[in-house]
Amino acid sequence: MIEIKNIDKIYKDSTVGLKDINLVINDNETIILKGKSGSGKSTLLSILVALSKPTNGEVIIDDIRVSKLPDSFASVFRRDNIGFIFQKFHLIPTISVFDNIITPLLPTDISTKEMQLKADIVMKQFNIIHKKNQKVKVLSGGEQQRVAIARALVNNPSIIIADEPTANLDAKLSHEFLEYIKELSGEKTIIVATHDNLFFNQGFKEVEMKDGIVL
Ligand SMILES: Nc1ncnc2c1ncn2[C@@H]1O[C@H](COP(=O)(O)OP(=O)(O)OP(=O)(O)O)[C@@H](O)[C@H]1O
Ligand SMILES: [Mg+2]
Repeated sequence: MIEIKNIDKIYKDSTVGLKDINLVINDNETIILKGKSGSGKSTLLSILVALSKPTNGEVIIDDIRVSKLPDSFASVFRRDNIGFIFQKFHLIPTISVFDNIITPLLPTDISTKEMQLKADIVMKQFNIIHKKNQKVKVLSGGEQQRVAIARALVNNPSIIIADEPTANLDAKLSHEFLEYIKELSGEKTIIVATHDNLFFNQGFKEVEMKDGIVL
């Protein structure tokens, strides 16, 4: 369970990013975080995954006070629990699909064989295994999207977070991404920050933000 309690974020230049956010996200729930540009979605996600610290309040994930963790513990917590899908994928273009997918596993002490097994599972699941040894830069947009999803899931995280995942995708790929979310929905805790209408009225819980507050 994710508990967001009385979170404020005030940036150094006094911009108010978030104001008294309170939200509980249950295990295996899918949340669509919506709201206009500048409403605070990315700010909330970065605090949620302990990439930035709130000014006030705390985030508790499965009884761990993640917003109070020192940075080195926070990065281990992220690696073990969270799969993050970025708007622009953030893949490494000059290395292979396989090498990109195993990056979240490299700081762990699992064997090469086990790494290959884990990578094979997600490459099969997202239909990219036939490109395993290709460099990412030669892949199509949809293939890169599938590599990014596979990388986010390779460590079998219980929480998946996607920030504007369809912002750079055409209608067909956006629909494909929605189908992946539907497939994973109910098995993982999923939070998708988006202003893409495609995700609305799909049966997911929708949480709307405006000017740094949750409506
Ligand atoms: N480092 C920063 N310093 C100052 N203000 C910031 C910083 N990062 C974000 N903000 C401000 O905080 C507010 C919320 O930004 P945020 O990026 O969370 O919005 P968003 O809902 O994700 O928008 P978008 O839909 O465009 O991605 C905005 O007014 C933004 O300008
Ligand atoms: Mg954003």
